[in-house]
Amino acid sequence: MSVIDEIKQRLDIVDVVSDYVTLQKAGRNFKALCPFHTEKTASFFIFPERQSWHCFGSCGMGGDIFSFMMKKESINFSEALGLLANRAGVTLVTRQKERAEDREAERLYQVNEAAARYYHYLLLNAKPAELARRYLSERGISKETIDSFELGFSPDSWDALRQHLISRGYKGDELMAAGLVVEKDGEASYDMFRNRLMIPIRNGKGSVAGFGARALALDGSTPKYLNSPQTAVFDKSGILYGIDRARGAIREQGLAIVVEGYMDVLIAHQYGMANVVASMGTSLTEKQMGIIKRLTKNLVLALDADAAGDEATLRGLQVARQAFSERISASERDLMGGISKLRGSLKIIHLPRGKDPDEVIRENPQHWQIMVDGATSLMDYFFEAVTSKLDLGKDEGKADAAEQLLPLISEIADSVERELYLNKLAHLLGVGEKTLSWRAAQLRPTMRERATRKVSLPSAQTIRHPLEERYLSLLLQHPELRHRGKELPPDCFEGTENRELFIALLDSPDEESLRQSLDVSLWEHLDLLMGRALPPANNRELETAFSDCTRRLGEQRLRRLKTLEETLFSEAQSQGNEEEVQALLQKALEPNIELRNLLLEGKNARKGA
Ligand code: CTP
Ligand code: MN
Repeated sequence: MSVIDEIKQRLDIVDVVSDYVTLQKAGRNFKALCPFHTEKTASFFIFPERQSWHCFGSCGMGGDIFSFMMKKESINFSEALGLLANRAGVTLVTRQKERAEDREAERLYQVNEAAARYYHYLLLNAKPAELARRYLSERGISKETIDSFELGFSPDSWDALRQHLISRGYKGDELMAAGLVVEKDGEASYDMFRNRLMIPIRNGKGSVAGFGARALALDGSTPKYLNSPQTAVFDKSGILYGIDRARGAIREQGLAIVVEGYMDVLIAHQYGMANVVASMGTSLTEKQMGIIKRLTKNLVLALDADAAGDEATLRGLQVARQAFSERISASERDLMGGISKLRGSLKIIHLPRGKDPDEVIRENPQHWQIMVDGATSLMDYFFEAVTSKLDLGKDEGKADAAEQLLPLISEIADSVERELYLNKLAHLLGVGEKTLSWRAAQLRPTMRERATRKVSLPSAQTIRHPLEERYLSLLLQHPELRHRGKELPPDCFEGTENRELFIALLDSPDEESLRQSLDVSLWEHLDLLMGRALPPANNRELETAFSDCTRRLGEQRLRRLKTLEETLFSEAQSQGNEEEVQALLQKALEPNIELRNLLLEGKNARKGA
């Protein structure tokens, strides 16, 4: 739970507001003279059930506990958060800790970047780097690629990097923490990477998190690749090599291609295939899958011919499949309102034996493209992998095939697709479909089992205000729409995080300044919205989707106000408070007219479309 939610859960808006104004009970609600403008009759109301407030008088303001504090104390969101956290007894240690961790992380990125620059400089200029330069040219890596990926060379020395970085003001501790220098008895002892081709590994934001380092001559005495150890900013299983440069292309093309190696990514990008990232040698982890899943639901995996069909690979693919082929839940409906359009697809490229993507691409980029276009669906791949090892002419082979494939088939969510593969299997084994269907039905996981088995994404959040979030995702991911945000009053946003983000967004020229202006407690939410996959849309679709969102948010706000008023109205009536009924009747007319106009507008817009 976020600190914001925790505070809301612990504090009652009635308590907080009553510190500032004298509240009178009005049925289930409370009323007071509005603290934000001068008035004689009370039109400021507190709604405990919604934990919200609204003034039906001339100021017309409203919001939640946070916006009340901000307005009343004339403070910003961070300050309000601080005050309320204090009052709620929610310590913001996580936030302070986060800040400290951020600072430490920032420092590690800086050391890494300084190291990358140093290695890169040596690769381009140092005499001993001659071998590395020749190696790269033999592997077809261009000067542009070397520069844009900032490839480098680590000299054959025990302390060259350490000396260099210390002279630049970095501390031994920092070098150890970044994994650049090996520790011995708590002291910085010697450089981790020596006489290697250096490949900086950047995180999604483009900061250097660690290094991959390839030996230049393979004599068997050292491993081919040496990677940075796990550090506060580097977790190899949670990073995809190339993601910083591939992110945009993956979103645009609606497809991510995952290869295994550094070289494959370098060459793919060099040949203009910018949606390629590497899992760095291991099978795709859940974390890596989570990164991709936020960008696209379509994934193609290039599998080494040697790995194809082996147990570990198949197990890895099973996990990937669960993460990707799951139906998109209703809360993740895309912005055109479609549900199933975005169902995930996971396909496999069979590489020719003994060849890596980098070689295939260099030999013939068209050939690679054909392989991508013709990638095998995962289920077909499982069929091939399983049946190629069995003798289907024999009963034993048939039984084995059924035993291995049926559980996979039974997990296909789409009934038509499931039928299709059952038929295929029945045909292959020469048995009746009925028998197989019956077996498959027995194996089919129940809803509950499926739910518990679901692969969870890091930082997956429950979506509480889907429309608000969709609107913000559009605004964040399409800067050209930014100025249109002015069309909406901020109290259209019921979610505290959403509202704060929206307000900050209107004042920020770009993403970086937006982030800086936001309280850190909102960063995670920002990342979530920035990363939420939107279906590719042309300008007109985008325009329609956006104005639709805008209109609906406006409607929602007015409906909310209407409901609040109706509550007040019926309560005043039931208590026979004639004066108040009259006053409310007067005020209630306004949003009614506004709402009618908005609804009419919407009707016309739909007719026109
Ligand atoms: N890898 C690693 N550590 C190793 C071996 C491999 O991290 N000891 C990762 C690297 O990301 C490497 C990928 O696994 O790029 C694939 O390994 P491999 O096929 O052995 O290397 P290639 O990338 O093909 O290297 P090269 O083409 O330079 O021989
Ligand atoms: Mn290779």
